[in-house]
Amino acid sequence: MALVPYDQRDGAIWMNGELIPWGDAKLHVLSHGLHYASCVFEGERAYNGEIFKLTEHSERLAESARVLGFELPYSVEEIDQACRDVLKANDLVDAYVRPVAWRGSEQMGVSAQQTRINVAIAAWDWGKYFDPAAMETGIRLAMAEYCRPDPRTAPAKSKASGLYMICTLEKHKAEAAGYADALMLDWRGRVAEATGANIFFLKDGVLHTPTPDCFLDGITRRTVMDLARKRGIEIVERVIMPEEMEGFEECFLTGTAAEVTPVGEIGPYSFHVGEVTRTLMADYSALVRPAEALAQAG
Ligand SMILES: Cc1ncc(COP(=O)(O)O)c(C=O)c1O
Repeated sequence: MALVPYDQRDGAIWMNGELIPWGDAKLHVLSHGLHYASCVFEGERAYNGEIFKLTEHSERLAESARVLGFELPYSVEEIDQACRDVLKANDLVDAYVRPVAWRGSEQMGVSAQQTRINVAIAAWDWGKYFDPAAMETGIRLAMAEYCRPDPRTAPAKSKASGLYMICTLEKHKAEAAGYADALMLDWRGRVAEATGANIFFLKDGVLHTPTPDCFLDGITRRTVMDLARKRGIEIVERVIMPEEMEGFEECFLTGTAAEVTPVGEIGPYSFHVGEVTRTLMADYSALVRPAEALAQAG
C-alpha cells in the first residue's frame, strides 16, 4: 500500500483549542520545539470509540511538560475532551491518538521563556505496531548500542521528543538488519526497554521486569502487571542484567502501540511464546475490548 504522507491526509486536527482542517495544522520552521526538542507527546489507542486510559495519558502529557519546564495551557479535562472530539470529528472508532505540546516560534535560542506553549491532537487509523504474522513465534530484537541515559543526563520521566532521537537511530539500525526492534540497556548496562515499549521476562512461572528508574513506567506496563496479579502470577521488578536472558523462558513487550507483543529472540537469546504470554495477550485484548470479550464468552 502506498504511504500517504501524514501532512497530506484528510480530516480534522485539534490545534490550540479548535478543530481545524488537517492540512492547516502547521507550525513555523523557526519553532523552538523543532530546534531544541522542547516538545512532549502522548500515544493513545481508541478501541470501539473509547480511548483506553485516556485521563492517565492526559495527566502524563501535563507531567511530561512540567518536567520540561512548561505548563500546558489546558487542563487535563480539556485535553481529555479534545481527544474525544478529535476521534469523533474524524469518525474513528479504532485509532491511534497523538497529542503533542511544544514551544513555539516567539523566541529562538536556548532561552525560550517567552514562547507560547502549543498543543495539537491528531488521530488516525492504525493497525498492529508489529507484524501480526510474527505473533506465533515472537518478534526478533537486536541489541541496541545506545543506552537509556542516566536521569541526571536527560529528563527520563518525561515522554519528551528528544529522548526518541536514540530510539529512531536504533530502530532504523535494527530494521536494516532484519529485526523488528532493538533492546536498549541503560547507562549502567542493565536491561531497560525496547525503543517504544517496556519488557517482561518469564522464568519458573515468575515475571521479571526491570525497575523503571531511567525509562518510562508505561501505562500498559502497569496495566499488564495488574492483569498478571489477577491471575496470581508473581511479578518481580528488579535489576536485570543482559546475561540473565540466557535463562528466561518467555519474553514480551508492552506499550500502547505494541499492546502485548511476544518476543522470540533478542540478539543471541531465544524465548518461546508460552502460556503466560498468551494468557496476558488475551487478557489485555479482553480488557481493551470488553464488548467483544463478553460476546465471545457468551
Ligand atoms: C520508550 C517507550 N517506553 C515505553 C512505552 C510504553 O508506554 P505506554 O504503555 O504508556 O504506552 C512507550 C510508549 O509510549 C515508549 O515510547
